[in-house]
Amino acid sequence: MPTVLDGKHVVLGVCGSIAAYKSVDLASKLVQLGALVDVVMTDGATRFVGPISYQGITHRPVVTDLFSPSSELSMDHVALAQKADIVLIAPATANVVAKLACGLADDALTATVLATNAPIAIAPAGDANMFGNPVTKANLDTLRKRGVHVIGPVTGRLASGMVGEGRLEAPERIIGHVRMLIGKSGDLAGAKVVVSAGGTQEPIDPVRYVGNRSSGKMGFAIAEAARDRGAAVTLITSPVSIAEPVGVKRVDVRTALEMRDAVLAASKDADLLVMSAAVADFRPEAPVQEKIKRRAEERLELKLVRNPDIIAEASGRRLVKIAFAVETSNLLENARAKLDSKNVSLVVANDVTKPGVGFGTDTNQVTIVAPDGSVEEVPLMDKFGVAQRVLDRAATLLKTRKS
Ligand code: CTP
Repeated sequence: MPTVLDGKHVVLGVCGSIAAYKSVDLASKLVQLGALVDVVMTDGATRFVGPISYQGITHRPVVTDLFSPSSELSMDHVALAQKADIVLIAPATANVVAKLACGLADDALTATVLATNAPIAIAPAGDANMFGNPVTKANLDTLRKRGVHVIGPVTGRLASGMVGEGRLEAPERIIGHVRMLIGKSGDLAGAKVVVSAGGTQEPIDPVRYVGNRSSGKMGFAIAEAARDRGAAVTLITSPVSIAEPVGVKRVDVRTALEMRDAVLAASKDADLLVMSAAVADFRPEAPVQEKIKRRAEERLELKLVRNPDIIAEASGRRLVKIAFAVETSNLLENARAKLDSKNVSLVVANDVTKPGVGFGTDTNQVTIVAPDGSVEEVPLMDKFGVAQRVLDRAATLLKTRKS
């Protein structure tokens, strides 16, 4: 499934930092996501990594010298700057940060930055003292004020062996920022989207709960895809073992009642609610405060009470609601019933008895059912692809909803 980076021109600036080797991986990941990556290296960068590494990965010439007569592209930094959809500098050294803050353009990279109208993102990396120095901090502030998107640096082990703030942000996260910046003008730009994910956990005692096998992958994919399309996303999730996408506001909850509070609060002024969470229908009536001990009795009875139907309750002035339905039989019939009972605009139903579908898998196969009787069969694909198909429908609903 194509991402927001597909066919986009990314100028990747690389500076002379030990972290430069990580930007080879970054370039590779950008290319894998469909971006056309033009690498521009400072002189310092070429001492750490050979241009050939980037050229091999990007299959495009690498710019290293503003004035080299042997390079076709060297004097063409203006053209590069103009066709860029984004200029990303990773790693950005304190020296280049200072040059950018002053508007210097004495090498191919800084000249490209000065000549571009594209969004600029920089991921600084280097010695903690250099980045802690007031002059570097002031330079970064200057760049932020001018609209440059600064990614990190993060705290961790540095090349010097010290621990401090100066590590390059992880390539996956840098890419998350790039996707968010490129996606800003997508078809969900300006929309407030609330997504719920994971399976709720209903306590029995302090160490046990009633739960389900939802991994959260589907909800996280929807959050990421909505972010890529320009939405401001709130992701309300029960405990899961995946990291939230960059730029998404994450709200952690555990129980259905906590999820209900969070979803109702976030939905009030939202445009779209996608409930992909597997909410426990029942919770133990009276969770006990002490761990239940293994007693002599052979049986232990657990009394459950019904949880509220969160999506049915959620409302907002202009809220469009999309439910997911996990079914093991009579898929269409059950999904249609949920359209009414939950008062939603779409039900995305999946039959979790099929291979590759539902809980914990990386793929899903869904049927999207609408109140007009239409049924869209979405074939088996990765969950990000399914998320895109659901959001295609959501974008149309948002465009055509009554004000
Ligand atoms: N849902 C909800 N609150 C609940 C239960 C479910 O908001 N207490 C939402 C789910 O997040 C999903 C949709 O309702 O978007 C359908 O969930 P599902 O478990 O399939 O439906 P139920 O209403 O629980 O119906 P049943 O278990 O009888 O199939």
